[in-house]
Amino acid sequence: MVVKRVFVAVAVPDEAKHALAAALAEWTPFPGRPVPPRNWHLTLRFIGAVADWHLDRLRAELSGLGRHPAFAVKWGGLGAFPRPARAAVLWLGVESGGDELGSVAAAVAGAVDAAGLPPEDRPFHPHLTLSRVRPTRDLSNLIAEVPPVRSRFDVSAVTMFESHLGRGGARYELLDEFPLGG
Ligand code: 2AM
Repeated sequence: MVVKRVFVAVAVPDEAKHALAAALAEWTPFPGRPVPPRNWHLTLRFIGAVADWHLDRLRAELSGLGRHPAFAVKWGGLGAFPRPARAAVLWLGVESGGDELGSVAAAVAGAVDAAGLPPEDRPFHPHLTLSRVRPTRDLSNLIAEVPPVRSRFDVSAVTMFESHLGRGGARYELLDEFPLGG
């Protein structure tokens, strides 16, 4: 039985990554272990280890995402989990498109449930992880200093990625794309 570690996310187009990297260049490298731009994404739902046959069920359910219209995301400012004064994850938030990301995430959660996979109890919070910080640090000043990012991009599909964990960091392989409605 083949088992894959998967998650469902909004992929960030290369052009949007370049704009984002340029907007943040003045502030980088961020403290901690920065996530390289090739790995930047907005997670809709982390699923974890799934058997291949089960993934096929999930794919069938996710094809219903075409009912959701495409939308735009406008980046926002920085934030941190669990909080700026004790940052473990430094992230970039969204200023608009958050509601649409939430409703697509809810539809993905419905598909995950319909495929018979276990539920997630953490609430959805749209974010792009920029850096992982261990041990945690107080990043309140940095977060207050960096102005919101002004660029935006269109979201016309949802992507299923396989996460390959390795000593050089994670590598994300695109498994499938599910177009949103036009
Ligand atoms: P993060 O960026 O906030 O760490 C791939 O690992 C993606 O799934 C990451 O974006 C990660 O979020 C997210 N994710 C959510 N829950 C996870 C978990 N329990 N384990 C690993 N990644 C998780």
